[in-house]
Amino acid sequence: MAPGKFITLEGGEGAGKSTQAKLLGRNLSQAGQPTLVTREPGGAPGAEEIRGLLVTGAVGRWDPMTEALLHYAARHEHVAKTIKPALETGTWVISDRFADSTMAYQGYGHELGRQVVEALNERVLGPFAPDLTLILDLPVDDGLKRAVAGPEDRYERMGRDFHQRLRDGFLDIAGREPGRCAVIDARAAVDEVQAAIHAVVRQRLDAPLP
Ligand code: TMP
Repeated sequence: MAPGKFITLEGGEGAGKSTQAKLLGRNLSQAGQPTLVTREPGGAPGAEEIRGLLVTGAVGRWDPMTEALLHYAARHEHVAKTIKPALETGTWVISDRFADSTMAYQGYGHELGRQVVEALNERVLGPFAPDLTLILDLPVDDGLKRAVAGPEDRYERMGRDFHQRLRDGFLDIAGREPGRCAVIDARAAVDEVQAAIHAVVRQRLDAPLP
């Protein structure tokens, strides 16, 4: 059996990733492709427990390196327990965030630097990487306005400069890896963003989408 494809959605706060991940998962499933939608931090029981440590509480509760290690601890669990087993059975996996979020948020946002995050990624994931990454791009102020305040708002409370660095970081990542990444303009209405995503997934992964 052919292994499944691994698609990740990335972007700053309020870009609509979760909505688009669910829509893409539903549309692929309806087209007959077994699909699993998952998220980070989280996506496996232990990783969901680690999520609670990361998305709540005081902005400065973690040193940036500790924070990056926690994200990678959660990711290792997610890959081992959820993502790889699904891909092995031919299921396509869509993850709302993955490793590019650590590069953008901790590498660029918290200024740990590319090399530190690259080394961590190499050690924890080796060559495992998404087949396709959709980066939903939005001006920082639009995203922060759209982001819903709630109990999981630790990152939303980080300063505007932090959010600008991570937006620039995502665009830099996309520029470095154009074969894997596609930038989607997330300012448009939900159905227009969905159509743009379908076009890329059809074209790059030969997906059975309308
Ligand atoms: P969410 O709001 O998309 O559910 O993600 C939770 C927060 O975690 C979000 O503000 C981004 C942040 N995050 C990181 O800082 N680094 C990471 O590696 C991941 C996966 C998420």
